[in-house]
Amino acid sequence: MKFFIDTANLDQIREAQDLGVLDGVTTNPSLMAKEGITGRENILKHYVDICNIVDGDVSAEVIATDFEGIIKEGKELAALHEQIVVKVPMIKEGVKAIKYFADNGIKTNCTLVFSAGQALLAAKAGATYVSPFIGRLDDISTDGLNLIAEIRLIYDNYGFDTQILAASVRHTMHVLECAKIGSDVMTGPLSSIEGLLKHPLTDIGLEKFLADYRKGN
Ligand code: E4P
Repeated sequence: MKFFIDTANLDQIREAQDLGVLDGVTTNPSLMAKEGITGRENILKHYVDICNIVDGDVSAEVIATDFEGIIKEGKELAALHEQIVVKVPMIKEGVKAIKYFADNGIKTNCTLVFSAGQALLAAKAGATYVSPFIGRLDDISTDGLNLIAEIRLIYDNYGFDTQILAASVRHTMHVLECAKIGSDVMTGPLSSIEGLLKHPLTDIGLEKFLADYRKGN
């Protein structure tokens, strides 16, 4: 299972990269705005800065919503760095663009996916990744993890290559449950990854080992 971090914060990306378990980064316009990254030039530069920190795929989202605009913007993003994956919304023009990008060797991440039908369409169009937003479904009393399981079943039925990228992950239990279901990737905050480290018996055990060592040394 690949671990992506869902942020545009360079310090957090560096911290996750230093841990040695990071496989990529996802961003979106809201995350860029949160870091105060505005203006086309600054945004493009920020994507390159992220690519220079991590080894894996970095999702950069298009703003255009018409086919021609998505293609133009997607090509510009893809040309920035070989690690860039063009993030395209699950809309009709987006599906057409994903098909175009797939035919032209440009990797895509189909975002804002909230149903199995949308995920099926993204895979048919040739998306590299599909991003079901599990946290936002949970927020409206709908089981986000169940959507991951549905998509896993459908993709396995037909051997689709599209990777399931569980997005809008909010906490460590989301990460664990996605791993059990067989999500290919998860993207979440640094805290959702670091939460995997924690167990009180580890802390108590280590304290005892060190205390016993100190008695004889
Ligand atoms: C996906 O790539 C999105 O950036 C993200 O996971 C959305 O998460 P949120 O619901 O926490 O905003």
